[in-house]
Amino acid sequence: QLPRPFQTEFTVPPVAKPAYQDDTTDYYEMAMRSAFLQILPAPLPKTEVWGYEGITPGPTIMARRGRNVVVRHKNWIQSPGHEHTSVHLHGNATKPQYDGYANDTTNPGEYKDYHYPNGQDARTLWYHDHGVHVTAFNAYMGCAAFYISHDEHEMSLPIPKGKYDVPLVLRDAIFGTDGQMIFDDQGHSSLFGDVILANGAPWPVMKVERRKYRFRILNASISRGFNLALSDREPMTIIGHDGGLAPEPVEVTSYRHGMAERYEVVIDFARYNVGESVELRNLGLPNTQDFATTNRVMRFDVVSEATDLSNNEIPGVLGNSEHPYSPMKLQESQSVRTRRFEFGREIVNGSEMWTVATDGGPGRIWDPNRVDANPGLDDVEIWEFTNNGGGWFHPIHVHLIDFKILDRDGAPPHPWERGPKDTVYVGEGETVRMIMKFGPHKGRYMIHCHNLVHEDHDMMAQFEVGSGGD
Ligand code: C2O
Ligand code: CU
Repeated sequence: QLPRPFQTEFTVPPVAKPAYQDDTTDYYEMAMRSAFLQILPAPLPKTEVWGYEGITPGPTIMARRGRNVVVRHKNWIQSPGHEHTSVHLHGNATKPQYDGYANDTTNPGEYKDYHYPNGQDARTLWYHDHGVHVTAFNAYMGCAAFYISHDEHEMSLPIPKGKYDVPLVLRDAIFGTDGQMIFDDQGHSSLFGDVILANGAPWPVMKVERRKYRFRILNASISRGFNLALSDREPMTIIGHDGGLAPEPVEVTSYRHGMAERYEVVIDFARYNVGESVELRNLGLPNTQDFATTNRVMRFDVVSEATDLSNNEIPGVLGNSEHPYSPMKLQESQSVRTRRFEFGREIVNGSEMWTVATDGGPGRIWDPNRVDANPGLDDVEIWEFTNNGGGWFHPIHVHLIDFKILDRDGAPPHPWERGPKDTVYVGEGETVRMIMKFGPHKGRYMIHCHNLVHEDHDMMAQFEVGSGGD
């Protein structure tokens, strides 16, 4: 009944076209809709998805540093079970009123305009649903898409560009025999599907030339972490992270990719002959349920010599950010305080919930009226995240800012996670320390687990930048 790997063709999501443009800003209109798509190969039935413009992944928004983007997101999803939406641009330093705050919901038939400045370093962002208590369901149904920002420094590097610069979103899903996706979150614990979708297609095949490709890999799964490797264990080169280019390239033969993290990975297909194939595999991770089919991701078929060998290099120095909020040059001595957050599972008001405890306090669930941390504008702080254990990992996302990982249980960060980040994998029982600088906006922002089932029930807290207190 299930599709088998490598029966579908790899595609890249379409690039969104602005509805209009002026001197400073590109304006987009996006309608979230329900649609039936041929995700499983015919004659298997079509699948209902909810997506931006009725597709999943949705259209990619291309931005340039210094030009603003405004998106009118219209909630036109008409489907039983649909409640509300809130759209978050993950990776953007957005003002609070446009940040997709969970309780700032848009009901079916309504729309909201979101204003995005693009003052940050070039990076791979994504927009996805963030509606309070329904984020996991809305995202699972397909409300997720890329937003890619470029800047002059990144464009001046001789790294793969154009058709060799490929957005690649991975996720899992469970399909019923009727072709519909099944949302089984095992009692709010986690959702693990047996089908792997790459850019919305089950285990697709991509035709490649004998040269380097840059893949902007995003894990948009609800609960599945990946441990990615090539089937022949040849190296891949990490050149970028959530917050943009890595300081320098890092070669890995496998790397761990938690939910919501972005890794920019260069694969050099010149090492293969025309006619050869190599697979992207998932080697599996602790606290993640595997099925017979989840070790496969996609296949690359080398079909020709390179038709263009420009921008086929990886310079030894990549990002060297001078951005005032870049975390990369922050020193521990600049930190004005350290805050501790513990992520656990506890009984709250009689039911088992996912909780966040701050600075040794009790584990608490999301309450939009409570502020859990109050850094001053432009303060540098060290945040320490502890996973209280119990059989789960928690990829923790901090809105607004980028951070640098200082250490994991006192040891240096893994080689693949030494760039600017906004989401950090906190393994079972682990404590991870990060350094960050708060700004450029004041206001309330969320911090939460990006296992979206955990986020919805209710592993989410908030900090407020500015306005005193601590
Ligand atoms: Cu990608 Cu608060 O989310
Ligand atoms: Cu979690």
